[in-house]
Amino acid sequence: MKIPSLALSLLALPHLLWAEPLCNGRAAYCDRPYSNTSFIGAHNSPFVGFMPQQNQDISVTGQLNLGIRYLQGQTHLNAWGKLHMCHTSCFLEDAGPLESFLHTVKVWLDSHPEDVVTLLITNGDRLDIGRFQQAFDASGIVPYAYVPMTSPETLARESWPTLEQLIRYGKRLVVFLDYHADVSRVPYILDQYAYYFETPFDTTDPDFQQCSIDRPPNANPDGRMYVVNHYLDLNILGILIPDRLSAPRTNSPTGDGSIGAQADLCKSIYRRTPDVVLLDFITQGDVFKAQDMLNGL
Ligand SMILES: *[C@@H]1O[C@H](CO)[C@@H](O)[C@H](O)[C@H]1NC(C)=O
Repeated sequence: MKIPSLALSLLALPHLLWAEPLCNGRAAYCDRPYSNTSFIGAHNSPFVGFMPQQNQDISVTGQLNLGIRYLQGQTHLNAWGKLHMCHTSCFLEDAGPLESFLHTVKVWLDSHPEDVVTLLITNGDRLDIGRFQQAFDASGIVPYAYVPMTSPETLARESWPTLEQLIRYGKRLVVFLDYHADVSRVPYILDQYAYYFETPFDTTDPDFQQCSIDRPPNANPDGRMYVVNHYLDLNILGILIPDRLSAPRTNSPTGDGSIGAQADLCKSIYRRTPDVVLLDFITQGDVFKAQDMLNGL
């Protein structure tokens, strides 16, 4: 028994020594700057279930396990003045404290040392950045959070580190907030609109025949990464709800109304691939095939 197992370990040795590093599960991502990597993002990632106000059908941990590395989520104050992950309001949908959401991601990062995760958080109630800092501190996730070397100046799009560098530095979390980020006070919560522009949301055209700049208003696309809001809503008597039944078509890599079709339209305008494509119901369609395609893999 001893000899064969020794022989086996010797055979395995070269692989252990020269195994290619993986970054977000792929060797091909390691050398790429963060800002030259396209991510499929889970829109409203904490709102999980079968109700009309819910956008995803598996948990945040389930989304990460499946391969999602970009999580978007809304925050609002609940009736007790606590900062929670809520959809439009905490009466409609309350997915628990921001701190718990962050802790969930922290625990996942602990056990996935070769993965970089991004959070795109919205500040629906335009709260002071100190409220976010409290939740981040309490969650234990802060040591993972990347702070650009140019801070407080915005890092130029071409100056981002590669995924491998982020992994090597242990800075495997990138955080953006849409409103009221203040990097002079909380350097790891980056200002979404300093780094990105984004296309319109609340789309009800199943063919997604636009790729215009919605926010920040009149933004210059040069020098910014960009987020494409590729999730379809249904208008039911003036109320917009996520179109669950169309998700297999919306989330397919190619074809009318697909991720690939809208990405092609965007590329024809901005001459580069979307950095982020936000989707509802990431288990539907073939979102990882679409992600590979966006990355030219
Ligand atoms: C990455 O770089 C290639 C080559 O310049 C470019 O075609 C592609 O659009 C870039 N992707 C992103 C997300 O910037």
